Amino acid sequence: MKKILLLTIGVIFTVAVFLAEERRYGIPRVAEAEENLALGEMVYRENCAACHGEKGDGKGPQADRLKTKPRDFTTGIYKFRSTPSGSLPLDDDIFRTISRGVRGTSMLAQLQLSEEERRAVARYVKTFSPRFKKQKLGQPISISQKPREDREFIALGKTLYKDAGCESCHGPDGGGDGPSAESLKDSWGFPIRPADLTLKPFKSGPQPADLYRTLSTGLDGTPMPSYSNSLTPKQEWALVFYVLSIATKEKPRGMMGLVGEETQAMMIDMRAAMAGMMGGRGMMGRGGGMMNRDMNEMMKDMMRR
Ligand code: HEC
Ligand code: HEC
Repeated sequence: MKKILLLTIGVIFTVAVFLAEERRYGIPRVAEAEENLALGEMVYRENCAACHGEKGDGKGPQADRLKTKPRDFTTGIYKFRSTPSGSLPLDDDIFRTISRGVRGTSMLAQLQLSEEERRAVARYVKTFSPRFKKQKLGQPISISQKPREDREFIALGKTLYKDAGCESCHGPDGGGDGPSAESLKDSWGFPIRPADLTLKPFKSGPQPADLYRTLSTGLDGTPMPSYSNSLTPKQEWALVFYVLSIATKEKPRGMMGLVGEETQAMMIDMRAAMAGMMGGRGMMGRGGGMMNRDMNEMMKDMMRR
């Protein structure tokens, strides 16, 4: 078993080195990549189209085998934003998702790409939707200062969890099994389940502020609503503390410490999986990572030696 694992890692590593080499010589360095849609398009074709589709419609060749479907960028609806419900995301929001990935899904952190490349491709995906030409970008919501967490706050959160109606979807104990759970669909017509709030990791990030943002903005395209109009900042923080207090379990980890559909993604998106292992997640990445550097930099270093 151990041998097979080592062999697998060896093979992946060789492939990764090969691909890094190809990147080094095969792709011209483009100046002013910030502005450069051509770079974004090239990065997209190579790294994203397999899942998100050449046309950005979420119907890439790998989409069928995935339970959580790759985003259809043509609708311009984004789950992970810092902007109010219903508004367009900022470039930084798209960049953050590309850099962090969406934990538990096949959307891995794209750390095989340089920051320049991630920024370029974030711009590029916007070209799939006419919404970005017609509408103004949203203003980011403000995240009020995190109060000190104490037992009283958590108790308030527990009450609010009931009163604000979280139970109907997320269930009385947060297990994702409320009365409406079975029948929910997302805006793209796929069935969707409320998150099991007892299980980490969360999609939008691990920090209290990430959950606060999610409660404030909602997850557009899903039944998860925005609460910024119905709850005060203090109430939102209370809910964040309550949710964190019940999120005590970890999703079972698969090969290389990957969670949920990240394991499938490893087969589809080998470069990202490899980069993640080196940098921020996966078996070697847990707790800081073997190296916290960009994979390209690391590969360059190795080749210089
Ligand atoms: C292995 C499949 C796969 C690959 C490759 C992939 N993605 Fe994704 N991506 C997904 C899935 C699945 C989701 C949906 C996650 C969810 O809805 O919870 C997603 C979601 C996203 C989102 C979130 C949008 C939102 O709703 O806020 C962005 C942005 C994104 N992908 C960009 C990219 C870019 C850019 C690349 C290439 C650099 C890429 N993805 C590569 C599968 C993939
Ligand atoms: C109408 C159903 C519905 C209601 C009501 C609802 N949620 Fe959700 N919630 C969802 C769905 C569906 C998701 C999963 C979205 C996804 O996976 O893309 C979700 C996801 C979440 C997440 C996970 C975010 C992440 O980053 O992974 C949290 C936390 C959350 N909800 C908290 C709450 C709280 C607290 C309330 C009440 C104030 C609430 N929800 C009310 C449907 C609902």
